Amino acid sequence: MSPGKKRHVVVTAGPTREPIDPVRYLSNESSGRMGFEIAAAAARHGDRVTLIAGPVHLETPPGVHRVDVETALEMLREAREAFRGADALIMCAAVSDWRPKKRHRSKWRKESEGDQTTLELVKNPDILATLGKRKGDRLVIGFALETGSGLSRARAKLERKNADFIVLNDASVLGSTRTSVRILGRDGSRWDVKNRTKRQVAETLVGLEKPSLRIP
Ligand code: C5P
Repeated sequence: MSPGKKRHVVVTAGPTREPIDPVRYLSNESSGRMGFEIAAAAARHGDRVTLIAGPVHLETPPGVHRVDVETALEMLREAREAFRGADALIMCAAVSDWRPKKRHRSKWRKESEGDQTTLELVKNPDILATLGKRKGDRLVIGFALETGSGLSRARAKLERKNADFIVLNDASVLGSTRTSVRILGRDGSRWDVKNRTKRQVAETLVGLEKPSLRIP
């Protein structure tokens, strides 16, 4: 990127919602707060920001272009489109790993089933891995929500998803305003950011530069 040029940063936030029928869906507990803080911090930093948000109850931060989506497939489409001309991707959304194979057109009636039934699921695409593959020298940051330490799993994600950084956090932070994270860099670097507000963590993440790759 040429010096002085405004960075275009794409941030994803919140959960995705995978419909079962017109009134039911699969989703998760993500509030979207961390991703919205990142988008806000990037805008304060002077970046052009596209925020791709799943269903959340949050105000759009000042100076941020927001695109609302519902499903993982919609998020992939919008993120791919926005990342095409962007300099960085911060993939904070809690994307549903699975979606129902079939979406019932009308309400799925219990009367149409016996005492047991099954909901067939198909895997959603991994947005971070898909876009990470074609990132070139652009900055890509992913998140890993783990229960327990999860360090080796987060390291494996760095490689598998071709990210420059993975931000490891614990499921206990869901919905709260404070958080502790461990930032793992592709160059082997590692920082612990403990008991900060999500706004403070967002400022740290927005300031990250692409790490130089460690020579094996
Ligand atoms: O594999 P896991 O879901 O733990 O990876 C988390 C990271 O991958 C997050 O950055 C999340 O936004 C991203 N992700 C994705 N598409 C998926 C699942 C996760 O981009 N289908």
